[in-house]
Formats: sequence, structure tokens, C-alpha cells
Amino acid sequence: MRRYVIAGNWKMNKTLEEGHSLIQDIKNMYTTGPDIIICPPFTHLESTAKAIKGTAIKLGAQNMSEHNSGALTGEISADMLVSVGVQYVILGHSERRAIFHETNTTINLKVKQAIAHDLSPILCVGETLEQRVANDTFSCVEAQVKEGLLGISKESLLDQNVILAYEPVWAIGTGKVASPQQAQAVHAHIRRTLTDLYDSDLAQTLRIQYGGSVKPDNAKELFGQTDIDGALVGGACLDALSFAGIINA
Ligand code: 13P
Repeated sequence: MRRYVIAGNWKMNKTLEEGHSLIQDIKNMYTTGPDIIICPPFTHLESTAKAIKGTAIKLGAQNMSEHNSGALTGEISADMLVSVGVQYVILGHSERRAIFHETNTTINLKVKQAIAHDLSPILCVGETLEQRVANDTFSCVEAQVKEGLLGISKESLLDQNVILAYEPVWAIGTGKVASPQQAQAVHAHIRRTLTDLYDSDLAQTLRIQYGGSVKPDNAKELFGQTDIDGALVGGACLDALSFAGIINA
């Protein structure tokens, strides 16, 4: 049985003070249920770690360098994340791919770096609208999974509880959620890809989140699909009530 996992990706939102108040509200609303991961900006990680101490809420970062340390102005290393209490890291988000030109090769290095430092990657994959229209959804997502996980053993994926997130680019921040059937079809294809790459045991164990305009009113139907194990939430996680609505779904 895979446990549901809901992650909130704050992206570049909330000042420290605003973030603190959001965390307090989430803490007050959250009792028990799915695994919850909060991914605030880098500047908020340390204080968030303190604020969620003693709760079941886990801390994630939104990105990380593939390098250990050195002259890399503006970058944040895996060791730095671990040192402030981070356990998860979102890698390969479509905004990193599109705006910051991250390739599958770089993302693969980041996934390996995270695993080597005891961080659990949330590896994001997803097609653009052009790719969907051209019927390239499966091949795009399959390539992102294969290249993102290249050279990584089944044991590492299981030991580190690696999570995959299917986020169709056309559904992110647009209000256009993938239909539960559209999302399910791609999630099932990701499991087929994992079965080909590893085996069905691995494919059935890893959790695959859906992301892209998830809201309290569409979450339940998405979570009802066989291969959808939770959500990676953007906009709706910036408000405690709507994040709680998704958690309750
Ligand atoms: P929205 O929920 O705002 O569409 O964002 C999804 C996302 O990109 C989460 O990583």
C-alpha cells in the first residue's frame, strides 16, 4: 500500500513573516492523514524546520545544486539543505527546465547528488501543450523518467523513498487541471516505464504525485485514480484553508 503524499511548493512566494503565519495555520489544521511536505523558499527553510519540529510535517527544498561546494555564486548544496533539516528536494520542476534551462542530464546529476546526501528527490516530469497536441506525451514523460533516473539503482530509489511528480506544463498555474483520466493514463505509463527500467515491485512501490491546478474541489477525483498517490500543489498551498482542503480530500 502506497501512502498518499501531499507536497506544497510555495515557489517564489511569501516573505518570512507571511510564511511563518502560513505554517502556523497549516499546523493548526493538520491532524493526521497523508504525508505532508512543505517546500518554502531557501530563506525560510531553517525557521520552517523549527516551526514544524515535533509534528509529522516534513520539509522540502525547491531546487539544489548538483555540485558539492565551491565557487558557484547563488547556488545551494545538498549538505546545506541537510544541515537545516531538509529531507526532500523538488528536482526538475518544469519552471527550472523552461526558465533556467535545466536538462535531463543536469537533473539526473541532481537526483544522484540528493540520494548521495540522504535527501529524497521529488522528480518532476511533464509534457508541454505542444507535445500533448503532437501526441508526444508518453514519449516525453518516458524520456524524462529514463534520463532522470539513469544509473540509479532500485535499492537507492527504495531506500531514499524517491517520489515522482507528473506535472503537465499546460496545467501548471493555468486553472486547466488534467482530467482524472488524462492524469491516470500518464501515471500508468510512468509505472510501465519503471517496470521496464527496474521491475514491477519498484514500479508499484514508488509514489507518483499529480501536479497542475490541484484544488480542494478537484483533488478527490484525482486521488481516486489507481496510480495517483497525492499531489504537488502550487497556488492552492499558499492558503492554509485550500491546502487543508486538498489534504482532507
Ligand atoms: P499550480 O498548483 O499552481 O498549478 O502549480 C503546480 C506546481 O507547479 C507545483 O509544483
